[in-house]
Amino acid sequence: MYASLKSIGSFVPKKIMTNKDFEKIVDTSDEWIVQRTGIKERRIAADDQATSDIGALAAIKAIERSNISKEDIDLVICATLSPDHLAMPSTACLISQKAGIRNVMAFDVSAACSGFVYMLSIAKAFIESGAKKNILIVGAEKISPLIDYSDRGTCILFGDGAGAAIIGVTQDKNEAILDVHASADGKYADLLITPGCGSKYPCRAENVNDKLQYIKMSGNEVYKVAVRTLTKDVVDILKTNGITSNEIDLFVPHQANLRIIEAVRNKLNFPAEKTIFTVEKYGNTSAASIPMAINDAYEEGRLKKGDLMLLDTFGGGFTWASALVRFGGN
Ligand code: ACO
Repeated sequence: MYASLKSIGSFVPKKIMTNKDFEKIVDTSDEWIVQRTGIKERRIAADDQATSDIGALAAIKAIERSNISKEDIDLVICATLSPDHLAMPSTACLISQKAGIRNVMAFDVSAACSGFVYMLSIAKAFIESGAKKNILIVGAEKISPLIDYSDRGTCILFGDGAGAAIIGVTQDKNEAILDVHASADGKYADLLITPGCGSKYPCRAENVNDKLQYIKMSGNEVYKVAVRTLTKDVVDILKTNGITSNEIDLFVPHQANLRIIEAVRNKLNFPAEKTIFTVEKYGNTSAASIPMAINDAYEEGRLKKGDLMLLDTFGGGFTWASALVRFGGN
């Protein structure tokens, strides 16, 4: 009995924020942003759309594209760094309610940009142990409220969006999640952090005045560890599974920065035609980045049943993860 990624869906907010829009609010240029990141635009959720709202819309699409009904779902997991509420309820509980899923176990995963691949690992274990049969996993982010729009080093990078998948059971290894590697190292915590509004620096006026509620990043240091870790991760998972890079049908890297993707792709000799690039139009959507990228590949007809995907991601914590997934959807 194997776990299988049976369907994919995403939701992209309507409002587009272009690099030209950033030229009006910080000292930057379209040219700098494109050259250093590859990003041209990103989406911003509406004021009345919380993370659970956009997550539920992606979830509904993934359920519609699967051969199950919402009554068949027995576990809902959401990965996010921008939950609707800091402590409770979990965003997974709210997504369940908004997607019409009742009386199932639901919880959130906190692994920043690695959240979707972390969820694959959890879902795989639940399915293969026989504990659950149909799991909805949702990577959803409304990151825009966590952005300091006066910090040019971070504000240009992130966008809002959501992606979801149904993980079900299969007897066929040709449509299975073959392997997931996931790791973390808290020694890098301060390089990419939202310091405030948790138990360490509570949501008090002095901490808010110090802007501790916003994402802080040492971009250059994160960049170097990201390239090193992402490359090593791919080499390790391919070697463990006796798979060569030319057997991969689609390389789906976390969409944080085009230069990072290109550095990893070139080191591993993956052709551009087999790599998914969405960073140009969405920016970094953290836990939503990989499912949104898989969704776009699916909608463009680039993903067929049985295709072997290699997922590779890296994020705050630091966390990192990779997965070998044969697509089990139609
Ligand atoms: N426009 C113009 N200039 C800028 C901007 C901007 N938007 N941002 C920074 N600069 C300036 C800096 O101030 C600096 O100027 P100085 O030399 O006068 O001090 C100069 O550009 C170079 O700054 P660096 O930080 O060295 O620029 P770098 O080439 O590293 O690019 C970037 C910055 C894009 C942030 C890059 O480091 C990066 O992508 N890092 C990794 C991000 C990432 O992958 N995060 C992981 C996942 S995120 C998650 O988990 C939530």
